[in-house]
Amino acid sequence: MHRHLIDLESYSTPVLERILARAMDIRRAPQAYAHACEGKILATLFYEPSTRTQMSFQTAMLRLGGRTIGFDNPLNSSVAKGENLKDTITVVSGYADLIAMRNPLEGSAFAAGLYAGCPLINAGDGGHLHPTQTLTDLVTLKVYKGGLQGLTIGLCGDLKNGRTVHSLIKTMCRFGAKFVLISTRGLTLPQYLKDFMNASGCSFRECFRLEDAIGELDVLYMTRIQRERFDSPEQYEKERRVYCLDRQKMKRARQNLIVLHPLPRVDEIEIAVDEDERAKYFEQAMCGVYARMSLLIDMLENDREEPSPIHPLSMAPACPNARCIVNHEPYLPCSFTQAGDILICDYCEERLLR
Ligand code: CP
Repeated sequence: MHRHLIDLESYSTPVLERILARAMDIRRAPQAYAHACEGKILATLFYEPSTRTQMSFQTAMLRLGGRTIGFDNPLNSSVAKGENLKDTITVVSGYADLIAMRNPLEGSAFAAGLYAGCPLINAGDGGHLHPTQTLTDLVTLKVYKGGLQGLTIGLCGDLKNGRTVHSLIKTMCRFGAKFVLISTRGLTLPQYLKDFMNASGCSFRECFRLEDAIGELDVLYMTRIQRERFDSPEQYEKERRVYCLDRQKMKRARQNLIVLHPLPRVDEIEIAVDEDERAKYFEQAMCGVYARMSLLIDMLENDREEPSPIHPLSMAPACPNARCIVNHEPYLPCSFTQAGDILICDYCEERLLR
């Protein structure tokens, strides 16, 4: 196994700080890095639509002097002929030095990492995680809040399916963040992430109304209600447009608040808010290039042999998560980490009682 980036939890705080420090330096003097990845090839394999992640990875590699290959629509690849993930990843990792992959199935990055012959980056695995968005968010916080420590962060919208939120929580718990979770009952944060915050000693509270929380925040992180993750159009219609950040609500916010959003936006931030100097989501998208440039250099410099992450169990149960890749690609070995009476799927983090 190579040293992949599946979940930032596997990166120590000094490694994270090293990547962030270099991203800040790249932002200050990008020309100094113009040849840092000369001769290297990044494959971007996007099984799910993307503007920012895909293009910022491509921009990052081109600005480092490297080149890119890949697909942005699996129907234009042999996936359309029925090729499985294992075979695609095995072959492409022979062509490229690094792979960035987005896939709609949860745990797909963990699965791809089992077969990748080069370092692989999780560019979003369904509603599970999006670690390079978190690197982007952390660079943005360093630039526009001056640091990461002790921030009160409001997370608003689709907290159930929001992979950007899940990755951000798991990482910001290290920096003493306090979270306000603003969502409807139907889209609350998964229990395993609340357990993670409790175990990390990270304080949080849940609330329904954005206007009740906005005045206490250092950072407001808005998210889109993700139509593609709902089982039916009716369920989506019930949830959409519950939250809209508008100028009225911004009047209740602190002057030093910053508003972030991983984008794309649909209707959860009024266009007029873009003119407010506290709106930093377009700057955030630009920080994604610096974050990914730094990550690409770091992964190429620090690749090493890693042990297999598979934990085979005798009589292993099936993962109960229908969106987990193990339930879609039958050759994948089931793998669970045992925590007392609980089994945690190593692919998607779904919990089940033993
Ligand atoms: N933030 C983000 O992941 O955007 P894209 O879906 O456009 O890549």
